[in-house]
Order: sequence, then C-alpha cells, then structure tokens
Amino acid sequence: MDVYGLVGNPVEHSLSPPMHEAAYDELGIDARYVTFEPADDAGAAAVESAATLGVRGLNVTIPFKQQVLEAVDPAPLAARIGAVNTVDFATDPPTGYNTDAAGVVRAFAHHDVALSGTAVVVGAGGAGRAAAFALADEGMTVHVANRTVEKATDLAAAVAASHPAGPDAAAGHGLDAVPDLLADADVLVNATSVGMEEDRSPVPADALHADLAVLDAVYSPLETRLLQDAAAAGATTVDGAWMLLFQGVEAFEQWTGEAAPVDAMNDALRTRL
Ligand code: ATR
Repeated sequence: MDVYGLVGNPVEHSLSPPMHEAAYDELGIDARYVTFEPADDAGAAAVESAATLGVRGLNVTIPFKQQVLEAVDPAPLAARIGAVNTVDFATDPPTGYNTDAAGVVRAFAHHDVALSGTAVVVGAGGAGRAAAFALADEGMTVHVANRTVEKATDLAAAVAASHPAGPDAAAGHGLDAVPDLLADADVLVNATSVGMEEDRSPVPADALHADLAVLDAVYSPLETRLLQDAAAAGATTVDGAWMLLFQGVEAFEQWTGEAAPVDAMNDALRTRL
C-alpha cells in the first residue's frame, strides 16, 4: 500500500484526503492519503521523516509551504514562487512542486477561459504568488493589487523579471487601483481571504463587467459575495473549489503518472462543501 499525505497545521478539516482517496478508489490504486500536523517549525523535518518512512507523496499547506523548500529540490516554478505545496519522493532529494499555479490555469481552462490579455490578481500571499506567476507564464500582463502595497510591488517585480512578454508586463498596486485596472482586464483572481465565511468582497461590484472571468480562491462559501456580484455583472465565474480540485489533480498526476479521474475527485470535494 502506498502512503500519501498532507502536512499542515491545522489539517483536521482538510478536504484533500477524501478527494485523493476518491481517485484511488476510482482507478483501483492501493493507497491511503493521511494528514500530518507537525509543530509549526518542523516542516523540513517532516519531509525528511516522510522520506525515511517511504511516503510516496506529500501535499504541504499553511504554515509549511516555504519551510519545506530546504528539504527538497524545487522545480523551477516552485523556486520562482518561493513555495512548495507538493513533494514527490520519487527522487532523492525529493522534488518540490507548486501545483497551486497549475490549479489556477486548469480551473480557468475547465471553464473555457482563454488566458490572454490582462489579469488582475488581488492578494500577494501564497495564493497570490502562485496565481501571478501562473498567469504571467501563460503570457498575460499581470497587475497585482494588495492591501500591503509593498508586497504587491515586490511580487510584481519578481514576476516581471521572468515574464515572457518582458519586464513591463507586470506591475504592483494598492487595492484602490483595482476598479481602474479592471476596466481593461480579462481575468480577475481574488487571492485574499476577504469573503471567507463573510458576506464581503475585495472588489467594488460596479467595477465588474461581462468581459471578465473571475476566479475566487475562497471556497467557503462557494458562492462568495465577489462571485455573486460577478455573475450579476455577466462575468464568467470560477469558484474556489475548482482551484482546490485542480491543484490536487495536478499533484495526483505528478505522483502517479496517470490521468486523474477529475469527475470522481470533484464529486468527492463538492459533496463535502
Ligand atoms: P494565502 O497563502 O492563502 O495567500 P496569506 O499568505 O496569509 O494567505 O495571504 C493573505 C492575503 O490576503 C494577503 O494578500 C493579505 O493582504 P496583506 O498582504 O496586506 O496582509 C490579504 N488580506 C487578508 N485580509 C485582508 C483584508 N481584510 N483586506 C484586504 N486584504 C486582506
């Protein structure tokens, strides 16, 4: 039996175990997916211990996504993002990936959203970093807006340094710039926690329009205030469960080399949300 798992703190309410075990059931893979909750400074030690024990793969979440970098060989995108959410123990040292980035791209692709033109990423934490690099690598011009402006400008500078369209294709802003930025935008990602368990949006409703595709990384509730406002404006909406799903799909495919049973994983997730 193969063992996979999630390292985080807290992890008790994680939806990753049922999502991945649905995939094992669907494909007849003899594996289990379990959760681990090490002390807050023990992320790298947890990865090293898992390697010793023969764990096949780990997902990594808050607060360990940066810490585990020192215990893995990061793939280029994970190194640029500066965070690892998936560890593959097939190599020694294990390889660290960031499948949150692919999660953003695949969530949009699943909704037939073309990733070209201009993106606005609100938030510059872990999810914002993954979204900004992912959309830039698709060739989009990326505007990052954040409450703490310095984090937005720092992230934008990092994205610009490796942008396929050149260094002018990414910029950082404060939140007050969002309405003007959205006027010419094709894609909006909310990568802040605003809207989580609250009826509040990080974006004024009247700045949304029908030519936008809006992904909210928040998945509790699924229909956030932002997504309700976006739907009312005629925008394409992509809820946060799609991002959660596709980061898991991408991890599963990395670990097993098999196409993930996306529908089974999606069903397992959505029945629990
Ligand atoms: P994650 O890994 O989920 O991205 P994070 O790294 O803690 O979580 O980042 C949280 C993001 O939500 C940040 O962009 C944060 O803004 P700051 O960098 O200014 O802290 C943003 N955020 C959290 N609460 C917010 C609020 N009330 N208004 C606006 N932005 C908020």
